Amino acid sequence: MHQSVAVLDFGSQYTQVIARRIRECNVYSKIYPYDIKASILKEDGVQGIICSGGPSSVLSKGAPMPDKKIYELGIPILGICYGLQLMGHLLGGKVEKSSHREYGLGQLTLKKKGKLFGGLPKSLRVWNSHGDRMSKLPKGFEPIGTTENSEFAAIQDADRQFYAIQFHPEVHHSEQGIVVIQNFLHKICGCKGDWSMADFIDESVARIRETVGDERVILGLSGGVDSSVTAALLHKAIGKQLTCIFVDNGLLRLNEREQVKNLYKDHFHLDVRVVNATKLFLDRLKGVTDPERKRKIIGKAFIEVFETEVIKLKARGNYTWLAQGTLYPDIIESVPIGGNPAALIKSHHNVGGLPKRMKLKILEPVNELFKDEVRKVGEALGLPKEVIWRQPFPGPGLGVRVVGPITRRVLDILRKADAILHEEMMAGGYYYKVWQSFCVFLPVKTVGVMGDERTYDNVIALRIVESVDAMTADWARLPHDFLGRISNRIINEVAGVNRVVLDISSKPPGTIEWE
Ligand code: XMP
Repeated sequence: MHQSVAVLDFGSQYTQVIARRIRECNVYSKIYPYDIKASILKEDGVQGIICSGGPSSVLSKGAPMPDKKIYELGIPILGICYGLQLMGHLLGGKVEKSSHREYGLGQLTLKKKGKLFGGLPKSLRVWNSHGDRMSKLPKGFEPIGTTENSEFAAIQDADRQFYAIQFHPEVHHSEQGIVVIQNFLHKICGCKGDWSMADFIDESVARIRETVGDERVILGLSGGVDSSVTAALLHKAIGKQLTCIFVDNGLLRLNEREQVKNLYKDHFHLDVRVVNATKLFLDRLKGVTDPERKRKIIGKAFIEVFETEVIKLKARGNYTWLAQGTLYPDIIESVPIGGNPAALIKSHHNVGGLPKRMKLKILEPVNELFKDEVRKVGEALGLPKEVIWRQPFPGPGLGVRVVGPITRRVLDILRKADAILHEEMMAGGYYYKVWQSFCVFLPVKTVGVMGDERTYDNVIALRIVESVDAMTADWARLPHDFLGRISNRIINEVAGVNRVVLDISSKPPGTIEWE
């Protein structure tokens, strides 16, 4: 049994980020509802408690309150933001509405380092976001840090091991915030820091087995990193009780269906049902040029095909679960200064609308993890680099990379050109360095000359971008000779293409995909 630290969730949009920081310090963390009974925390043997921030004011009616007995457990507590106000409010201090809201970066001056601030400079830039302020300390407490607006921006009662800070140490904007968390975990709670992602796998395997029992699970496999890691994890936990469905919508890249089949069926021995639905998708897309209509048609057809497979499976066995590779959106971490993180969360393209109608229970074994953590899990499970570090590929696939009507012929042209780009990006060592690199088919014919003959053929655009989160992106500055070779190869090797152009638009105002 690993040492663990509890995070009580008072509704902060950073709760998951706190849990993640704790994992980064190699300590196991578990998020509990804010009103969890102290006796349960004791039974679970937690080494310490972190009370998260939250949008409420401790002064308002109905504000979320913890079980007061957590302060009598004799274990260290760190209150962050709302967690600080709680200590003031519940332990005999005083909290008042502040005349100005502290929001954004502020300067924290350390008055006393003690265990919490050990190893830090005297002054730090920290990220604040709160309305209330503590005006009187509870008995036994002393101030250890101040800001312009608050003489009690950081406080401690070292005897009882209670610490509280107004700022958010978990966000990157708080200078050396991670040191504060490390100090709390290692120096105050005495956690050794011997937990790792391999332990995450063991723990989730046990949890999945317990949840699923002898029932069966269905997973939609896309070949992307999230669903692949979910598949490998579930397979480790429940083996043959897992069945994956892979839908070939006819909009995949060259040999993609075979690659997925080889890896998951033949190598990992997963039960994968590969459904070739190319005809259905392409029939419905015939003549459609509007990007939004394309997306809707593809999404709807996917649900139909998937549902048909689910009905077949349910008739065959005790399938009661639908697993999804939902992640905790990593965008929230990089909230711009002064911005609202919630506004930044990208809408996820998971199969919305599926679950209810199909009467399946939802299983999301990696939904507390961030993208980079999921990659670590994938590595520990033995997934190959090409899967773990695969560039993002949109759900509607090549459907949004063919401008204009989608036909088999055009898809074939695009697939061949895209395969050449992929091969060259790999060979040149650029594939894993950029965010995405792909070809777009343009329904434009231009004149060219090949040998002595005049040609009149289509155009392929190269879209190669750098980005950290897909919210903004810029075109990658790759060497001209390298780009020239790609262009030559596509024009020489792909019949139907006589011109290659390079997309040099940034996002915004452009988007990464063309449709
Ligand atoms: P845009 O084109 O909006 O794309 O700049 C941002 C990122 O999202 C991907 N993308 C999608 N992913 N389903 C997905 O799963 C979609 O419908 C979809 N549309 C865009 C895109 O490849 C880029 O990484």
